[in-house]
Amino acid sequence: MKTTTKLLSYLMLIVAVIFLFSTCASKNGSAETAKTGINIEKRSLILTIGASEKLNFTLSPEAEGQAVTWTSSAPRIASVSNDGTVTALDYSVRGESRFTSSPATGTANITAKTADGKFEDTIIVTTTTQGTIDILTLPPMKDQFSSYFLIGNIFNRTDARNNEIVNQRLIHHFNVLTAENDMKPEYIAPSRNSYNFANADRMVNSAIASGFKVHGHTLLWHRQNAQWMTSMTRSSKENALAAMKKYITDVMTHYKGRIYSWDVLNEAFPDSVTENDDWTQVIRKAGDSQSPNPWYVSIGADFVYEGFLAARLADPEALLYYNDYNLDTIGKATMVRNMVRDVNARYRQEYPNERRLLIDGIGMQSHHNLHVSEAHVRRSLDMFRPLGVKIAISELDVLGQGWGDFSRSGGSGTNKQSGSSVTNDGIKDQAWFYNELMTLFIENADIVERVTWWGVTDSQSWRSAGLPLLFDSRGRAKPAYYRVIEALSQ
Ligand code: XIL
Repeated sequence: MKTTTKLLSYLMLIVAVIFLFSTCASKNGSAETAKTGINIEKRSLILTIGASEKLNFTLSPEAEGQAVTWTSSAPRIASVSNDGTVTALDYSVRGESRFTSSPATGTANITAKTADGKFEDTIIVTTTTQGTIDILTLPPMKDQFSSYFLIGNIFNRTDARNNEIVNQRLIHHFNVLTAENDMKPEYIAPSRNSYNFANADRMVNSAIASGFKVHGHTLLWHRQNAQWMTSMTRSSKENALAAMKKYITDVMTHYKGRIYSWDVLNEAFPDSVTENDDWTQVIRKAGDSQSPNPWYVSIGADFVYEGFLAARLADPEALLYYNDYNLDTIGKATMVRNMVRDVNARYRQEYPNERRLLIDGIGMQSHHNLHVSEAHVRRSLDMFRPLGVKIAISELDVLGQGWGDFSRSGGSGTNKQSGSSVTNDGIKDQAWFYNELMTLFIENADIVERVTWWGVTDSQSWRSAGLPLLFDSRGRAKPAYYRVIEALSQ
């Protein structure tokens, strides 16, 4: 009895062991078969909204030659095309998502299956508003937009060394540069008739040696002025006119042949102007909330014509620009239109043999936020078009929030990126607004000759708290970058 029981339990043990062994083996076996049938190269993928990536896979001998079909468990989060290209979406179609609180991100299972249905493999795709792809691995923006306009950015002293541009991000994507600060009067004209061109020269020469065009910024302005210019408000008209003309002539002669286009006059009009104003009366004067334009105060509205004329005579090859912000507003746009129209008409009258306009172009700075409307930017472009001028989008950035939220959270000049109040939705809406703008610029590419961003990465921006640029602080492409590129195929 005892022996039989013992024998029985031994037998049971052996059966159990065999059973266990065989299930393990078959599990292993089936797993191996599935894996070797079709195998997606990656196990998981994190994709920035707007970005696409083609998934690679291998087929084992038993599945060879079979067609593969792709499916997504959540096609509104991440879609997949017949060739296995996954695209991260944002739960909505163009336009729908603006200023809504639809979820920005999620996950989707992407499955590849062989035609006979025997083999499949699945990976998880997570979508995010964060950047994932490094700026240097992306195709150069300057090449992608080359049939439309120049693609520009700003540069600073540290970007230029040993007669070349050393910032690879600038070299990779851009073909025209604007000095962020170093060509403003406060830097190059410490006192009247004495110049400090050393830094600006190093920058300009390096940019040219590295194959960039250079845009000059800026000759006449009410801010970042040299002290002697600011005090021109107290000068006689004759003295001020002579000083202004000499300044323009000296600086433009110094850079003659090296500067492709110049902002001759920057931000002449205050924000309060309305469309029925007389432009000659409303240029920034004493009492302006920022500060007066010293040249207007001492010379009068004639300083505009005189300044542009001096610039034309100093370097006839250079394109001459008037540059301003908030040109989406009807008041400022109308003042600029009227001023350019009148100044160019006077030039035509005084120089009847000249074929060119005196003011060649209008620079629309385009420091935007999410409450700016594309329709208003379009309205201004339509208003400027009949003038026959060129348009430069000269200082483009778009806050990932409205102006109110931005100023409440710290505003300009601060580097509060870590404490930024920009939301995921803000990042998405910013991307769509960039898409609308680029689509509009492409539509108007016959007059838009340059699109310059005011910075490459958010952390480098003068409005960094609003995360206004295409690349994040680590230099990775944000949804905005992908929507800018998307405008090319719309
Ligand atoms: C800004 C620079 O980006 C800052 O570094 C500087 O402190 C202030 O000026 N309009 C212009 C630019 O024409 O020159 C300004 O640049 C931004 C607004």
